[in-house]
Amino acid sequence: MSTRARRGRRGLATRLLLAQVVVLLASLLTAGLVALLVGPSLFHAHVLQVRPVWDPAELEHIERGFREASFVALSAGLLISLGCAIAVTWWMTRGMQRTLDALTTAASKVSRGHLSSRVSSAGGGAELDTLAGAFNLMAGQLEQTEATRRRLLSDLAHELRTPISTIQLYCEGLTDGVIQWDEATERVLTEHTARLARLAGDIDDVSRAEEGRLELDLSPVPVTDLVASTVQRQQDVFAAAGVRLTGEYRTAGDAVVHVDTDRLGQVLDNLLRNALRHTPQGGAVVVSAGRAGEEVQVTVTDSGDGIPAEQLSHVFERFYRGDTARDRDHGGSGIGLTISRAIADAHGGSLTASSEGRGRGSSFTLRLPVRARQRSVPAHGTDRS
Ligand SMILES: Nc1ncnc2c1ncn2[C@@H]1O[C@H](COP(=O)(O)OP(=O)(O)OP(=O)(O)O)[C@@H](O)[C@H]1O
Ligand SMILES: [Mg+2]
Repeated sequence: MSTRARRGRRGLATRLLLAQVVVLLASLLTAGLVALLVGPSLFHAHVLQVRPVWDPAELEHIERGFREASFVALSAGLLISLGCAIAVTWWMTRGMQRTLDALTTAASKVSRGHLSSRVSSAGGGAELDTLAGAFNLMAGQLEQTEATRRRLLSDLAHELRTPISTIQLYCEGLTDGVIQWDEATERVLTEHTARLARLAGDIDDVSRAEEGRLELDLSPVPVTDLVASTVQRQQDVFAAAGVRLTGEYRTAGDAVVHVDTDRLGQVLDNLLRNALRHTPQGGAVVVSAGRAGEEVQVTVTDSGDGIPAEQLSHVFERFYRGDTARDRDHGGSGIGLTISRAIADAHGGSLTASSEGRGRGSSFTLRLPVRARQRSVPAHGTDRS
C-alpha cells in the first residue's frame, strides 16, 4: 500500500481512541441530560421537604450551588475519562502497533527475497503472538525450500558436468577421427547418457522428498509380505553376482504396517542394491524383520566393505558417495539413501546406518510404527524407475 493511501486511513490507535471518545460522549450526554432534567426538580423537592417555606433569594442560591456542583462534577468526569481513554488506548495499542509494524516490515523484506527476516513479538496479545509465530514458520519454510533449491541446483550442475564433458569429448574425438567408434566407445557413451537420464529422474524425487512433498498411498501390509517380496525380487541378481541373500522374518509375526508399498519397495530395493554393490562375491546379505514394541524393524545387513565411522553420518546426504570413483563407476548418484530416509520419515519411521568399520560389513535399519501415520499429502507424486 502506498504511503499516501496509508496516511488517508486512520491508524489503529486513532480509531480505538475515537471509538472510546464516542462512547464517552454518549454516556456523558446521557448523564448531563438526566442531571439537567431530573436533578433540579428532585433537589427542589428534597429542599422543600426540609423546610416548606424559603426566602426566594436563599432558595435560588442553594439551587445555583447544586447546578454548579453538577456541572463541575460532569466536567471533571469528562476530563478524567478522556485522560483515561487516551492512556488506555496508548497502552493497548503500543504493543499491537509494534508487532504489526514488525510484521509489515518483515513481510515486505520477504517479498524482496530476504527470507531470513523474522518477527519478534512485542507484546501485542495472544492473537498477534500467534500471527507472528505463523509468519515466522512460513518464512522459515520458504527459506528452507529456497536453500534446498539452491543446493540442489549447484549439486546438480556438479553432477551433470562429468557425463556431459565426457560425452562432449567423445563426440569431438569421433568428429576429429581421434577416437574410433568401437564397443568401448559405445559403452562409455551409453553409460554416461544413462547416468544423465537417471539423474533427471532422481532429481524430482529428491526435491519432493527433502521438502516433505512425497505422495503416499497408504494401505495395510503384513511386514513379512513386504520383506519376502523384496527378497524374491532381488534373488536372481544376487545369485548372478555370487552373493547369498537370505530373509529372516519369523519374529515379525503378523505385524501389519500402513505404508505405501511402492515407496517402501523403493527403499528396500535401494538398500539391497547398495548391499550387493558393496559385498564381494562369496559374501552374504541378510534381510531380517522383527517387532520391537510399537514398531517393526527391517534390517539389511551385509558382510561387505563396511563404512568408516567418519562417513556414517554422511551417507544419507544428497549426492554423497563414499568411494566416489567406485560408486560412480557403478552408476550411483548418491541419492538413493537420501530418498529412502525421506520416505521412512514420511511414514513416521526412520532409517539409520551402522558399521563396525571398513571391511566389516554394514547394517541399515528401517523402523516403522505398527500403525504408521502419513505426514504429508501433497498434490502430485512420482515413481522412481
Ligand atoms: N551397504 C553399504 N556398504 C558400504 N557403503 C554403503 C552401503 N550403502 C551405502 N553405502 C555408501 O553410501 C553412499 C550413498 O548411498 P546411496 O544409496 O545414497 O547412493 P548410491 O548407491 O551411491 O547411488 P544411488 O542409490 O543414487 O544409485 C554410497 O555411495 C556408499 O558409499
Ligand atoms: Mg544406492
